[in-house]
Amino acid sequence: MSKQLKAVIVGAGSRAMQYASHAQQHPEELKIVGVVEPIAVRRQKAADLYQIPSQHCFQSTDELVQKSRIADFVINGTMDQHHVPTSLPLLKAGYDILLEKPFATSEEELWQLVNQARQCGRKISICHVLRHTPFYAAIRQQLINGAIGELINIQAIEHVSYHHMAVAFVRGKWGKTAFSKSSMLMAKSCHDLDLIAWMNSGIRPTSVASFGSIFQFRSDKAPEGHGTRCLVDCSIEENCLYSAKKHYIDHPDRWSTYTWDTVSSTKEMTLDEKINSLKTDSPYGRCVWECDNDIADHQSVAIEFENGSTATLNLVGGAAKGSRKLHLIGTHGEIEGSFEDARFVIRHIDPSPGNEYSEKIIDTTRYEDTTGVTGGHGGGDLRIVPDFLRVLRGEKPSISSTDIEDSINGHLIGFCADRSARENKKIEISSSQ
Ligand SMILES: NC(=O)c1ccc[n+]([C@@H]2O[C@H](COP(=O)([O-])OP(=O)(O)OC[C@H]3O[C@@H](n4cnc5c(N)ncnc54)[C@H](O)[C@@H]3O)[C@@H](O)[C@H]2O)c1
Repeated sequence: MSKQLKAVIVGAGSRAMQYASHAQQHPEELKIVGVVEPIAVRRQKAADLYQIPSQHCFQSTDELVQKSRIADFVINGTMDQHHVPTSLPLLKAGYDILLEKPFATSEEELWQLVNQARQCGRKISICHVLRHTPFYAAIRQQLINGAIGELINIQAIEHVSYHHMAVAFVRGKWGKTAFSKSSMLMAKSCHDLDLIAWMNSGIRPTSVASFGSIFQFRSDKAPEGHGTRCLVDCSIEENCLYSAKKHYIDHPDRWSTYTWDTVSSTKEMTLDEKINSLKTDSPYGRCVWECDNDIADHQSVAIEFENGSTATLNLVGGAAKGSRKLHLIGTHGEIEGSFEDARFVIRHIDPSPGNEYSEKIIDTTRYEDTTGVTGGHGGGDLRIVPDFLRVLRGEKPSISSTDIEDSINGHLIGFCADRSARENKKIEISSSQ
């Protein structure tokens, strides 16, 4: 029988509530005993769901840490800019942390948190959920097994679909750096940078060069006849690829956690209320060419490692189809796969007569079937919680475990890539403060 661990939700938004739901499926492993959330409606929702007594419902982490420790760990699902300020006092108060990515918004913050965790001897696991998907875990296992020899080069691609781009990075809460404090590279592709660092685990990234800009979502690229709000003053709404009506009314469920999960009310919005909101106060009703977004909508990153191996990441927002791809070239062969297809191919150099290479296709959906775990990010969202519980119980972690120490390199690559793009020069990565 597994030991039941107790957790406090910090930031009862969509991510933390998703991780906390493990307590509903596996009450023998996890019990939610507290919540920290400044928004009363969300705090109450979490309290009702997990029968949390009022003395364990807090508006801030300051209130929580004034009490003696009430749980084994916290699930910190606050927004990017709150990760470090909320986690520092929690570490001092003795809590281990399951922490959302990006775990910091700058190199300075990164070292502040890492050093605090080291000093306090606490465990922090970063929600790099893609490591926990059968697709990426199986590729990593192939590398551990030496399937393609020594890695020479890693090529990662992330294409963010036009509707995801618009809702999160143009109209939404990651569009403006002054708010989330993250670039799109860090908010979205810190997963892919983490995967690159993980695939080349144990080898230090030494330098990075990067280019990126706002290519599309700016007012001088707006089509003729556009307005400021799609349903108010736009003469081309009917034919526009980014019509708010098409994105959020005609697709009512897609991105509804961003667009329609109102924070001030528990009541479902009617269709008329939604249309009225898109016309008046909703940020999602704005023309994508007339928003206050200031983050690059595409960025390319080139990385060099200490052993001379290299990697690239191409992040492009506004694609017809959202997708992730990975191609690894080693001294004995290569691995090439598409995350959405959950399949990769391993090719081996084969110089025997009549041959050039051999090929084997690995379909990772068969691993999904055996575990029975589904859910967001190819099942990674729900696998990360039991993995962290195993770490806390002192059991052997999976190969996907994302200890903060192991997440430093991916984050450093991202911060240095953003500096490179800003300063238009190659940046040397310093792996200590
Ligand atoms: N791992 C992934 O694949 C993945 C995917 C999407 C988002 N994310 C990350 O998850 C994080 C949360 O995203 P979300 O969409 O769930 O956000 P959200 O806005 O739905 O939830 C954040 C919650 O934190 C609360 N909060 C704000 N300040 C707080 C404080 N000081 N103490 C406690 N709570 C506080 C907010 O009121 C809000 O309810 C972000 O950092 C985001 O980048 C990760």
